[in-house]
Amino acid sequence: MFEIAPSILSADFARLGEEIRAVETGGARCLHVDVMDGQFVPNITLGLPVVESIRKATKLKIDAHLMIAEPLRFAAKFVEAGADMVSVHVEADAHLHRTLMAIREAGGQSGAAINPATPLAAIEEALPFADYIVLMSVNPGFGGQKFIETSLDKLRRLRRMIDERGLDTKIEIDGGVGKENIAEAVEAGAQIVVAGSAVYGRGKPTEAVRELIEAGTVWI
Ligand code: DX5
Ligand code: ZN
Repeated sequence: MFEIAPSILSADFARLGEEIRAVETGGARCLHVDVMDGQFVPNITLGLPVVESIRKATKLKIDAHLMIAEPLRFAAKFVEAGADMVSVHVEADAHLHRTLMAIREAGGQSGAAINPATPLAAIEEALPFADYIVLMSVNPGFGGQKFIETSLDKLRRLRRMIDERGLDTKIEIDGGVGKENIAEAVEAGAQIVVAGSAVYGRGKPTEAVRELIEAGTVWI
């Protein structure tokens, strides 16, 4: 089974509460919140006060994806602000182990995110300290980009790497997933599937979440 994590990046920020309730009605249990700093990625989105407000507005699990430089500065603060899960990029962090432990010590689930061109070896040693890996299937920074097809093979290899080590680190896939390819991603081993434009892009988020859950429910 898999979990869908709608990304509010493509939502209407002026109606955020409503947009969140819409995906909850559709069956989502987890909300993906993209934090960008204009340095690690060429875009700026939102930060701690917005996560605090979302926390007050919903019971959904909050999955904060930090696309920021030197994430150790902020990772635990996002847990304190109400995030249940916090992921940081391996490319942005020279002390990944320390950051993952700081997230856990703050009471959150720790995630290591990895860009499309970064080899899996970069997170191999961190697997025991990560509750989940965010496998990027687009270059982080923007919603609505095209799924990079080689990500499926990378996903299968990551699945094998985790299973061979007997770990229960989860795999989350992020970027370019929609109705047309969600089943393939689940079959390849994704347990959490992020969807931004596929959920909020058509103006019918409740329906879109239902359709994605249906399209991704495969017998494996
Ligand atoms: C990209 C973000 C994604 C984004 C996904 O930098 O990390 O979470 O919202 O959006 P879609 O599903 O439209 O590719
Ligand atoms: Zn993301």
